[in-house]
Amino acid sequence: MKKISIVLYCSALITLAGCGGGTGSPAASSNKSSGSSVIVSKGTVAKSVAGASGQEVTVNSVTYTTGTASVTHNGASALQTDLKPGMRVNITGSHDGTTGSATRVEIEGQLEGSVGQIAADTFVLLGQTVVVNDQTVYEGISGFSALTSGQTVEVYGLPNSNGTVVATRLEVKNSNSKDSSAQGLYISGSIASLDSLGKTFTIGTITVNYSSAMLPVQTLVNGLMINVQGSLVNGLFKATQIKSRDDHVEEGNADFEGLVSGYDATAGTFILNSQQVKITSTTTYSNGVAGNIANGVKVEVKGSVVNGVLTANKVEIDREHGYTAPTTAPVTPVTPVTPVTPVTPVNPVSPVLDGAALYAQNCTGCHGSSKRGASASATQGAINSNRGGMGSLSSLTVEEIAAIAAW
Ligand code: HEC
Repeated sequence: MKKISIVLYCSALITLAGCGGGTGSPAASSNKSSGSSVIVSKGTVAKSVAGASGQEVTVNSVTYTTGTASVTHNGASALQTDLKPGMRVNITGSHDGTTGSATRVEIEGQLEGSVGQIAADTFVLLGQTVVVNDQTVYEGISGFSALTSGQTVEVYGLPNSNGTVVATRLEVKNSNSKDSSAQGLYISGSIASLDSLGKTFTIGTITVNYSSAMLPVQTLVNGLMINVQGSLVNGLFKATQIKSRDDHVEEGNADFEGLVSGYDATAGTFILNSQQVKITSTTTYSNGVAGNIANGVKVEVKGSVVNGVLTANKVEIDREHGYTAPTTAPVTPVTPVTPVTPVTPVNPVSPVLDGAALYAQNCTGCHGSSKRGASASATQGAINSNRGGMGSLSSLTVEEIAAIAAW
């Protein structure tokens, strides 16, 4: 079965030279003598320059020529020159480790809408919290400090499972800016709280009504990764079109960058975008160790996919640019923290007070032993009325006065 699916995968990519390896194994991907290996690479565009044979884009440290590649933006046809730094892309192609050629480039924007509340390094967009960091690329604006509420922005970024997005690129739209997506408002994420009778679901904190939307071929189910286009009507997102974003790979070589979610340290598994990843005893790490893997951490995983599971050959860890809690209180409540039930002290043991010692310490100096056995109320009254300067004893507690009286 495994061989057949790989043959099919290769025949679908007939323009590629390097499909003869046949095993889809890590060994094949490093076997440069047999030419390039077919790969799906998901990552952030680090560089995009015009080259001799079309736009050259660098993703996950490999520079691909896109001369013959089909380019789409959120599923709609786009141009090679639309490829810009900071954009999130899925590349299908082949490479030899440093250079390659793409047959398909899918640009995936995360969301576009009107900026809401802005904080130190976050802002709210369509009910999602967007986090910026020093890798965020800006267009149409000098930087984050120039962002204002009400501006229309398109955000490319790494979705985190708690509904936040770590922005890799932020484009402020204005009347002059060319919107290659021409998509208008959109939001991407996974379906939650699906109500197929009422035709609504939620993405993060926003409720989407899809009663009059064009639907994908996939059945809508909770957890399905989608891209929804539409408009905001009284705080409700009225969908006009829904596209599936479930672009996980079934077989082949993969090089995926994203934020870890659903990490299970015991099983050595996690989810990256919508891909199941398995780490093994032979997985190697760079910029960190296995113990650094945690939900929200940014990683790049290289390996091979068999039956939909990506077995990691190599995990590169970037601890600085994943999801970290915003430095200011996030405006959108993220994961509600269950309040810890206060532990009721069982039998509070009151300290045993030594009346004799307290009397000796506080009273003997003025009274000798003459007030021994005086009632607590008499002593308290004398303190309250500052008899003979007894007001200086006002810090004695009711219990201490009682202990003195009882002695
Ligand atoms: C700074 C000196 C001073 C200290 C310390 C002091 N007293 Fe007095 N206390 C007095 C004087 C002076 C009076 C007034 C004369 C009297 O009644 O003996 C008085 C009055 C009292 C009275 C009588 C109040 C009344 O109803 O007439 C009581 C009871 C008393 N003290 C208890 C105590 C006890 C118990 C302590 C120790 C916790 C204490 N005092 C510490 C100076 C002191």
